[in-house]
Amino acid sequence: MSQMNARAPKGTSDLLPDTARAWEHLTRTAQELFARYGYEPVYTPIFEHTEVFTRGIGEATDIVSKEMYTFEDKGGRSITLRPEATASVVRSCLEHHLTANGQSTKLYYSGPMFRYERPQAGRTRQFWQIGLEAIGMAEPTVDAEVIVVLMEFFAAVGVPAGSMTLLVNTMGDEVCRPAYRDRVAAFIRENSADLCEECDRRSDTNPLRAFDCKNPGCRIVMADAPLLRDALCDDCAAHYAAVKGHLDALGIAYVEDPHLVRGLDYYTRTVFEVKAEGLGAQDAIGGGGRYDRLMEQYGGPPTPGLGFALGFERTLLALKAAGVQTPALPIAEVFVARVDDSVAADVFAITQELRAAGIAAEMDHQGRSLKSQMKAADRLGAAQVVLVGPDELAAGALTVRDMGTKEERSVPRVELARALTPRG
Ligand code: HAM
Repeated sequence: MSQMNARAPKGTSDLLPDTARAWEHLTRTAQELFARYGYEPVYTPIFEHTEVFTRGIGEATDIVSKEMYTFEDKGGRSITLRPEATASVVRSCLEHHLTANGQSTKLYYSGPMFRYERPQAGRTRQFWQIGLEAIGMAEPTVDAEVIVVLMEFFAAVGVPAGSMTLLVNTMGDEVCRPAYRDRVAAFIRENSADLCEECDRRSDTNPLRAFDCKNPGCRIVMADAPLLRDALCDDCAAHYAAVKGHLDALGIAYVEDPHLVRGLDYYTRTVFEVKAEGLGAQDAIGGGGRYDRLMEQYGGPPTPGLGFALGFERTLLALKAAGVQTPALPIAEVFVARVDDSVAADVFAITQELRAAGIAAEMDHQGRSLKSQMKAADRLGAAQVVLVGPDELAAGALTVRDMGTKEERSVPRVELARALTPRG
């Protein structure tokens, strides 16, 4: 039989226990924080009808035009692995009437997303996001709240404030954006000789994307393009000013970036992105914005909303770049070691007693030497080791070694679980 290709597909990776534990720490931190702000969990399918994304994210975006994992299922439906979750969450709110009759809802999610991108550092084809959406509220305090939660998350997991930058901008709305789009399209046509082919082509379909082009020549040209912030309608200008006012009042540092357009077409008004140092080209660790027209694009009633998503992989890269260790719980708090094989059954019984008492306890099932058991205890992060031998069992008292101080004490077997239970 020929050998199987045992490698994970290009652009994906296995999250081995070290990374997976850091992952769980990020998830727990997010869950606690988001709950404090009144967000509830939601799980939507990992695949959707393709239209959810083509309509929601926009046909002319890179995500929809180049990066989707789309296939026909056995029933002939066009299905797409989700490239992001906002479109799915809004679809779900519409389907289940979560925002009917002017109600609002605050939801959060986490899970894998799929984009067929060229893999590079910080950019993969399957990546994990954690995100939240506040749907049904148009007020600028909600924009500020969402941004604050994102910044508090990064602070809570340890990204140093000095190594990240919050960028904010406004995308206007259906009142002021169309005329502005036309102006940018005209600007692109006037400067087409100095722009890349793709930006030139975009003048018809999606001119604002040209602000996002990484090509240095395009960047120079687009630096002189008209800015939306100079062409906002009164309502959008007032909304943007109010959001910035709330951020100022909360002491949230931000940089206004009039060129920030983000890669999804559903945005209206506030958009934001957090960039971290030391990540190279893929330096956005999280981003989001308002999408007040998205539900209508799905045939629902006008329903404002906004949210953010942050990338797990890039958050870990940002922590690494800043030299921050992600705290992880020890795999075992206590290791029960056996002096010889004659006590294997007792060791198993004692380990079970400790586990029943709520202690993360581990033992060696395979009869390794005491030396290797001590090494294993170390690797698992056990703070204490219980030494079990025939003499100890006969005397009814076991030796407990503190792995930090190396001190040993004798504990009556009947009191073991109580003696090892951490106080407080
Ligand atoms: P996004 O900016 O496309 O926004 O993605 C959010 C975050 O996901 C990025 O800042 C980045 O950290 C991570 N990310 C995106 N693509 C990749 C990739 N190929 N590899 C690794 N990480 C990646 C959204 O997805 C919107 N749904 C955010 C949102 C929520 N807007 C409103 N609500």
